Amino acid sequence: MKKKEKHSVELWRPKQRPAVKYEPWQNLTLMRLEADTRTQLASKKHRLEHSLSVASMAEHLAIIYDVDPFLARAAGYLHDWDKVVPTQELIRRAQRFGIDLGVPLESVEPLLHGMVAARELPERYPHLPSEVWHAIACHTSAAEDMSPLDMVLFVADGIEPLRRASEGIQQTRDLVGRVSLEDLFWNAFVGGLVYVLEGGRYLYPRAIDIYNSLALDRSKTKSLGERRA
Ligand SMILES: [Fe+2]
Ligand SMILES: [Fe+2]
Repeated sequence: MKKKEKHSVELWRPKQRPAVKYEPWQNLTLMRLEADTRTQLASKKHRLEHSLSVASMAEHLAIIYDVDPFLARAAGYLHDWDKVVPTQELIRRAQRFGIDLGVPLESVEPLLHGMVAARELPERYPHLPSEVWHAIACHTSAAEDMSPLDMVLFVADGIEPLRRASEGIQQTRDLVGRVSLEDLFWNAFVGGLVYVLEGGRYLYPRAIDIYNSLALDRSKTKSLGERRA
């Protein structure tokens, strides 16, 4: 019998677990979200572990970058909620919600689970604010109007400790706390594009528009900073 290959991959962990004190209602909400996530993703053990890990990582980044850690943790739990939905069913749901990405939905199916979940879950969790749903909707594709919470979830999804390190992922991990959230997100976003291009994968056409829009914003902010200096 063929021996199972062992991965000699070192798991990266945040240096220290940040301490955060929540209100009792927030603790209750987070406990419920974790329990619901465990039930929803029970059939996909790795996805469940990833989601729990993203929740912790998002909370960690939120504390470092002065973003609401409660919302970050909540978004982390729920971000991959629809990863258990079969492909054709996910596409049907996306069509039903009128999600139009300008290309056949089959070609961008990996991006849809966040967008669909962001439309389905507000009914189930009406007490969570719209910021959470926006972060979940754009955690796969990014967007021109990334809020700090959106950036926290996007980066947490990409660098959570259970994700096997590539050079790009390690680079982003090494920047945590050493650069601004905008720069950290930019590093993760561009790293994701490079991963798609180098792997010869399909590039979602709007990714180029998003890249150009963010790049222009960054160059404006930079030149403003230079003028002020
Ligand atoms: Fe996802
Ligand atoms: Fe994820």
